[in-house]
Amino acid sequence: MSVALSTAPPAPSRRTRTLVATYEALTIGLDYEDGMIGRMRGVDVLRFRAGTRRFVAFTNPEYVDHVLHAGRLKYHKSFEYEILRAILGVSLFTDEDESWQRHRTMLGPMFGKRHLDSLLDLMIAPIEASRAALATEDGRIEVDMVGEMVELTLNVVGNALFGQQFARIATSMSGLVTYGLRFAEHLERLFIVFAPPKRAWRGLSSVAFTPIPLPPPFRRIQSIVRILDQAVWDVIDERRAHPTDSPDLLNHLLGAEDGQGRLPLRRVRDEALTFMLAGHETTANALSWMWYLLALNPDARARLLDEVDEVLQGRTPTVQDLPRLPWTAACFHEAMRYFSPAWAIPRVAIADDVVAGHHIRKGTTVIIPTHHIHHDERWWRDPEEFDPSRFLPGASKGRPRSAYLPFGGGKRMCIGSSFATMESVLITAMLSQRFVFDLAPGHPVQPEATLTLRPRHGLKMIARRRPVA
Ligand code: HEM
Repeated sequence: MSVALSTAPPAPSRRTRTLVATYEALTIGLDYEDGMIGRMRGVDVLRFRAGTRRFVAFTNPEYVDHVLHAGRLKYHKSFEYEILRAILGVSLFTDEDESWQRHRTMLGPMFGKRHLDSLLDLMIAPIEASRAALATEDGRIEVDMVGEMVELTLNVVGNALFGQQFARIATSMSGLVTYGLRFAEHLERLFIVFAPPKRAWRGLSSVAFTPIPLPPPFRRIQSIVRILDQAVWDVIDERRAHPTDSPDLLNHLLGAEDGQGRLPLRRVRDEALTFMLAGHETTANALSWMWYLLALNPDARARLLDEVDEVLQGRTPTVQDLPRLPWTAACFHEAMRYFSPAWAIPRVAIADDVVAGHHIRKGTTVIIPTHHIHHDERWWRDPEEFDPSRFLPGASKGRPRSAYLPFGGGKRMCIGSSFATMESVLITAMLSQRFVFDLAPGHPVQPEATLTLRPRHGLKMIARRRPVA
């Protein structure tokens, strides 16, 4: 009697798949090539379970469109945002439903073109300071580009938010913020597998603001949260005691009102802290990746330097110059396609739903893997090429709207997208007037998908001084 040997291995049971996904979530799960996220490449829908949680990832822009636009009322921000809520409180980033809508309508004008134009001088001052600090006698200096960009963007957003007085606090805060983000990443990894009931978590996280000392390592986080909190309250109290007519965002937050009244001071604090935290890390990463990609693509970089020299003629940029720097802006947008700082956008279904025939049960976490959509050959020709011309005016014709999501999409799209673009074009143009950045020889560069997509080993670069035009 012969026994037929099957060459196909038996499909793993559901329990095995859950165990594997749980293990991956805790170890390599967030890695964008190796883990669960890496498996999304080229498929429209991927379902998996990890620990107690059920996930579905959509990579087809048509399905993503449903979640962000037509079907958006069936989705809330997922449990991952609870970590931010513990620190930021209830702000635009963490709020939902009518309350979110009311505040978005109130605060939207702060990020409109007219108001952003009035912030130009507040943005330029820290960029000039950073440019001066890079200038050395021999015209050549090694820089940790990520650290440099984190400090600069924190100063820019701090200045635009609170006016000049904030620069000192911003500089002292950058280390704390980086530590806090690292800690949040570990928590997030745990939450991929086990998300406690929201009420229990909220009760627990509010302890961070009480005088009860937490055990280590939570104690360090507790003290960081308190320092950030105190710094923002100090600036708010000072401003209320000594009002100014600065165009900064704090004055707008303090003056914002609608038919239902003004923002309570607690909400002013929450929104201000949100703008600062949400506004600097993402921009710093986007810029760091852009300098790296420009160093690898000398033709694109040469065109950038030519544009900057020709348009600015050695001057400090004005608001009128910004639309005359399309290649500079395109380099920033293409860098955000290539390495999207917000590499995935998570939601939770608050009701049963059907997306292009796929049933989504209430409670399922829906992941929109931005990074993979940005590298999908179905929507991007030669996606592994760095090609800023994709973002020159008119070039996006025919591309599905949810194929490019660095700032998210739909009603919850980033409120600071124009702020970030304006700030980044100014930083790129002003630093390029003086310097060319090359990668330090031998420095390893590897993307690491944590809360944001960052270079795992930082980014050592050599800044070479250009002859002054
Ligand atoms: C390159 C820089 C930036 C990137 C890549 C980025 C990315 C994002 C993304 C993807 C979202 C949507 C999240 C979701 O739907 O779950 C978002 C929302 C948000 N961002 Fe940004 N952001 C940047 C800069 C900024 C700046 C400069 C500010 C403020 C000064 C800001 C404030 C916010 C706020 C308040 C929200 C929540 C908006 C709402 O839900 O109404 N961001 N951002």
